[in-house]
Amino acid sequence: MKVTVVGAGAVGASCAEYIAMKNFASEVVLVDIKEGFAEGKAMDLMQTASLNGFDTRVSGTTGDYSKTAGSAVAVITSGIPRKPGMTREELIGINAGIVKEVTANLVKHSPEVIIIVVSNPMDTMAYLVHKTSGLPKNKIIGMGGALDSARFKYRLAEALDCPISDVDGMVIAAHSDTGMLPLMSKATRNGVPVSEFLDAEKQAYVEEETKVGGATLTKLLGTSAWYAPGAAVSVLVHSILCDQKKMIPCSLMLDGEYGESDICLGVPAIIGKNGVEKIVDISLTDEEKEKFATAAKAVREVNGDLKF
Ligand code: NAI
Repeated sequence: MKVTVVGAGAVGASCAEYIAMKNFASEVVLVDIKEGFAEGKAMDLMQTASLNGFDTRVSGTTGDYSKTAGSAVAVITSGIPRKPGMTREELIGINAGIVKEVTANLVKHSPEVIIIVVSNPMDTMAYLVHKTSGLPKNKIIGMGGALDSARFKYRLAEALDCPISDVDGMVIAAHSDTGMLPLMSKATRNGVPVSEFLDAEKQAYVEEETKVGGATLTKLLGTSAWYAPGAAVSVLVHSILCDQKKMIPCSLMLDGEYGESDICLGVPAIIGKNGVEKIVDISLTDEEKEKFATAAKAVREVNGDLKF
């Protein structure tokens, strides 16, 4: 099956690389507006095929969307990333225009496509795609929770001084420094609640480091991260293309779930061949419910800046 990745920059190229390396898609088409850039990234990636042992065909185009026709999944990473000190929300002006235009081009050539939105501010960009694409809501998925949960697990394993595969945890709510909600009450080490191992101070440290995970990397790199975002997208695409029905937190249009409506926020969902197969209702503590509502309020304010 064919996958399109729009934006051949840091995150887009990383997505394409992980998707190709995992060998589950027949074809990946990279699209960028910078002349020759997507073609170059695609050629470079294809020259790793014999080295890395994959058969996925990777091609690139400078804005010719006819090459994306018939895509089962399209990933939108086009737009500007944040610089040190910037919030994701500050990117809205430029990225909204790009995401809207890219969405229209994708849907024109692949009316059945499932869109994964990566560009920031992601919850608001996912909302914009819902409002402008005409696609059913199960076909629009914002990628944030998969990445933030991976960062949560990284910080949990660090605090517990144990292998990452021993820990489990999930981050829901907004993909923003303040609106992220790492569910400490549900985090486990080998099935045992982490509260058995970490005192309140260590738990607070893990939560805080998870929430500023993106900002920490932006400060170190001078731009936002790409390996983990690319890997997180590839996990979503894999679950769709191979109908794995994995439970992955994603930013989805809510219609009463978790007490919210007409907003995209991170919630756990089953991801399979139809995109969003089901939003999973997990019980939250009163404090978590309050934090979820506060995150929703902040995202709604950012959504208010959108012009359709
Ligand atoms: P980048 O600057 O490396 O790449 C963006 C690419 O988009 C550039 O190559 C640019 O030429 C291209 N582009 C711009 N306008 C376009 C258009 N109209 N059509 C096609 N291509 C276009 O940026 P990077 O680091 O790859 O980040 C991309 C976006 O992803 C940013 O908005 C960033 O904030 C976001 N991001 C989101 C994450 C998430 O968890 N949701 C994680 C990391 C980044």
